[in-house]
This record gives sequence, structure tokens and C-alpha cells, in this order.
Amino acid sequence: MIGRANGAPVTITGLGCNVPDRVVTNAELSKLVDTSDEWIVTRTGIHERRLAEPGTLAMSDLAAPAARRALEDAEVDPRDVDVLIVATVTPDMAFPSTAALLADQLGMPDAAAYDLSAGCTGFMYAIAQAYGMVAAGLSQKAVVVGGDVLSSILDWDDRSTLVLFGDGAGAVVLERSGHGGFLGFELGADGGGGPNLWLPGSGSRHFDNGDRFVKMNGREVYKFATRVMVTSAEAILAACGKTIEDVDVYVPHQANIRIINHAARKLGVPQEKVIVNVDRYGNTSSGSIPLALADASGDGRLTPGKLVLMTGMGAGLTWGSALIEWTHEPNGAAA
Ligand code: ACO
Repeated sequence: MIGRANGAPVTITGLGCNVPDRVVTNAELSKLVDTSDEWIVTRTGIHERRLAEPGTLAMSDLAAPAARRALEDAEVDPRDVDVLIVATVTPDMAFPSTAALLADQLGMPDAAAYDLSAGCTGFMYAIAQAYGMVAAGLSQKAVVVGGDVLSSILDWDDRSTLVLFGDGAGAVVLERSGHGGFLGFELGADGGGGPNLWLPGSGSRHFDNGDRFVKMNGREVYKFATRVMVTSAEAILAACGKTIEDVDVYVPHQANIRIINHAARKLGVPQEKVIVNVDRYGNTSSGSIPLALADASGDGRLTPGKLVLMTGMGAGLTWGSALIEWTHEPNGAAA
């Protein structure tokens, strides 16, 4: 799917994030599995990640502070929110949805609330949906949360996945605006590549050896990621009549510094425009792009008028890009 944002202007009016307090270094992981700081840093760029204490944190617990901060940042009363989408592959449970639980917790009695599953691309899919509802007038104030408690589905004996991921969530508020805002979206999926990154024992399909841990063919996902991070960004830029030189801030999904550097180099984005947090958080799935937006906002790189290119990719296999002319002045609530 690809489209220009032809409806009423819609923008991000609030941004908030949340990560667990517990910092886990590569040295600590090397006590659990046969790995090393040198291997992890060289292959991924990750130095540390935030992980919940096992069994202590569900997705709604991680999401609630992020959503509260985004609402405060937007100066929106939770009672006025009419749709809440939670993009996650680690919901509290299959049902009720994490979004329904969260809407109740946050005090959103009039909100339609549902979860969305698109792997690490979930945040991109969810902001496209929220954009459509706000632009069409179905929604006045939408909240999108992206994030995962990936530590809850990792095999703590599997070094090939354990070192890559972290827990984290981010949230945004979407509302109509007088100017700027979203320019367009490009989203796609290739279920044929699904078994390269999957959780086979987690649903109604029976597997003799299915378990509830992430399984990944890292090399295949790497090849897929380096391809779609470039093609998706090029497609949305062309559809919106923009060039890579027009982009002020590039926010790629934070899976691996090598994938980020490859995409930036191929696209021609200079290093100073690339937002990186994978070194501190690892791959936080749907949390990675809002966490990176918060970083860029916090260090002054994300200011009104800037053209922001976001591209995600992940399980599905899925990918997605959005272009937005940033309009938001933070009020200090994002963290
Ligand atoms: N420590 C030490 N050695 C390791 C580790 C580890 N943590 N993990 C794997 N190895 C070993 C492998 O066993 C292999 O050993 P062998 O040659 O004896 O078989 C060797 O290191 C090299 O393995 P490769 O897979 O070739 O390593 P590669 O350079 O491809 O890097 C990596 C692996 C980092 C996983 C890379 O393929 C990658 O980043 N892939 C993309 C992953 C990704 O982005 N996933 C998230 C997608 S988003 C989402 O939806 C969640």
C-alpha cells in the first residue's frame, strides 16, 4: 500500500516513552550464553539494553507511562481520546486486548481500543491507521502505542536472539493540524518470508515442536532488512514528490547498526541526520521508532518544520515508511 496523505492535515501532537529501569550489559549476557561484548558490538552496535525483571512486567504496564507522557505532552485529557491502538507482539494475553485494558487503566471510556500485530513494523502500521481515522473525521484524538516486552518471548539459552532485543514502548497522540503533519505512507508484507522470524507455538496452528520463543534466521532477515529499508524509503519519497536531500531527520527501525548504516549509505543520508538508539536499547520492536523520535526531540534535532523519514521492518515479514513534516513543540512531558 502506498499513498499520499490527501485528507485533512494530521500531525503528532504528543510523544512519550517508557523503558524498564534495569540496564543489562553485554558482559552480563556473556555470563548466561556463549557470547562476548566484542561479538555483539561488532555485529550489532548494541552495548546494553533495558530488560524487565522476569515475570514482573506486562505490555500494558510498560505502555501506560508512555501513553500518559504522550497525553501530557499533547495536553490531551484521556477522556477525550476516541481511539487507542497498541502495536505489539507481546500483548498481556490473547484477549482481552492490551489496548482495551490500557484504555480502562488510563480512563478513556469513549475510545475504540484494539491491538495490532505487524512485528517491529507495528508502530508504522498503527500510525497509518490512526492517520486515516483522524483525517477522515472518524477520530478527533487518537493515541498510538508501539512497544514490546520482548524479554518475555526470548529463549534465554539462545545466543543468536537473546543479545539482540530489549524492552521498551513509545506513544504518540495524533490530531488534526492547520499545517504540516503526515505527507504519506508506504506499507507492505511478505508472509512467504514469515518463518524467518516467528513465534511458531503462539497461536492456533499446531506444531509438534512449537514453543513460545522467538526463532530467527538472522542472515535472511538481514538480507530482507537491507533491501526493504531502502526500497520503502525511496518509494514514499517518490510518491510524495520529495528527494532524500529534503529529509532533515532519518528515523530507521533500530535492529542493528549495520542495517541502519547500510540503509543510510544507500539512500545517501548523512550520518548527522540519522537517529540511533540501538546502542543503548537494543531492538525494542515497535518501541524503537517512537523511542528514537523522543531522543531526537530531546537533543533538539526534531523541531517544527523538519521533514522526518521513518522506516520500520520486522516480523511478517513486514515493512513500512512514513514522511511527516514535524509540527510539534514538546512541553517537556516526553521522557
Ligand atoms: N555471540 C557469539 N557468536 C554468535 C552469536 C552471539 N550472540 N550469535 C550467533 N553467533 C555465531 C553463529 O553461531 C555463527 O557461528 P558459526 O559461523 O560457527 O555458525 C557466527 O556467530 C556468525 O553468525 P552469522 O549469523 O553469520 O552472523 P551475522 O554476521 O549474520 O550476524 C545477526 C548475526 C546480528 C543476527 C545478523 O544476521 C542480523 O542482524 N540479522 C538481522 C536480525 C534482525 O534485524 N532481526 C530483527 C528484525 S525486526 C523484528 O521484527 C523483531
